[in-house]
Amino acid sequence: MATPTENKRPVLLITGANGLLGQKLVAQAVQEGHFQVLATGRGAARLPEESLQGVHWEQMDVEQEADVMGVFQKWRPSVCIHTAAMTQVDDCETARQAAYRANVEAVAHIIRACEQADTHLIHLSTDFIFDGADGPYDEEAAPNPVNYYGETKLAAERLVQAAACPWAIVRTVLVYGIAHDMSRSNIILWVKASLEQGKKIQVVDDQWRTPTLAEDLADGCLRIAAQAPKGFLIFRGKTL
Ligand SMILES: NC(=O)c1ccc[n+]([C@@H]2O[C@H](COP(=O)([O-])OP(=O)(O)OC[C@H]3O[C@@H](n4cnc5c(N)ncnc54)[C@H](OP(=O)(O)O)[C@@H]3O)[C@@H](O)[C@H]2O)c1
Repeated sequence: MATPTENKRPVLLITGANGLLGQKLVAQAVQEGHFQVLATGRGAARLPEESLQGVHWEQMDVEQEADVMGVFQKWRPSVCIHTAAMTQVDDCETARQAAYRANVEAVAHIIRACEQADTHLIHLSTDFIFDGADGPYDEEAAPNPVNYYGETKLAAERLVQAAACPWAIVRTVLVYGIAHDMSRSNIILWVKASLEQGKKIQVVDDQWRTPTLAEDLADGCLRIAAQAPKGFLIFRGKTL
């Protein structure tokens, strides 16, 4: 496979490429062919072999600044889509230091690397920066997180907004879909599996959410990568 300098296409670096959104981004970016796709993750790739055709893989723990700086210096990506995060909301509540490391400190490392390599940073955020009292929200609405996950993601947004590199923040909602060897499930898969097994399920009945298909979100992120708008975008699916 070509080294970064042998191939003239711009490099797209994807963090958290083993995750639900990460896997969809890798597949769609390879298919589009606009970028050299540099997929990164904590440890080895867990994508199926066929999905790694034409993909460069680098192990990159985003919490390790040396890892991040090393990969950026080697590849000097044009665009970084930062999906890696501690995404389990309840775990963030109980393991706050780990959540802060993954969701805030790691973003500071990514920003520093993007600033040095002049990389366009596309940062994934969440509707959980809002309290939900008066949704749906637009880009200008005032944040008010009600859980620690939301607090960490808001703190990360503030770091990104102060960054000296070009940036976009994509706030998305209840992402669902099927990926390979996933480290966690999502509500749609859980409901489907439970109903198929004839199990009763308990779900909240006082929330309006807009579940977002991972493929649609990946498509939106890649459009941002191609068009490089700056600022906030809210990406959500249909109201449920
Ligand atoms: N899922 C949702 O409902 C939702 C809603 C709103 C916003 N978001 C945001 O969208 C983004 C993508 O979410 P997702 O659904 O794709 O989540 P996901 O499936 O949980 O994927 C997150 C990925 O981040 C990786 N990761 C965690 N810590 C890391 C580290 N220190 N270094 C490298 N990789 C690390 C995980 O690695 P392992 O696989 O090794 O654990 C995982 O592959 C996140 O920023 C999330 O906050 C998600």
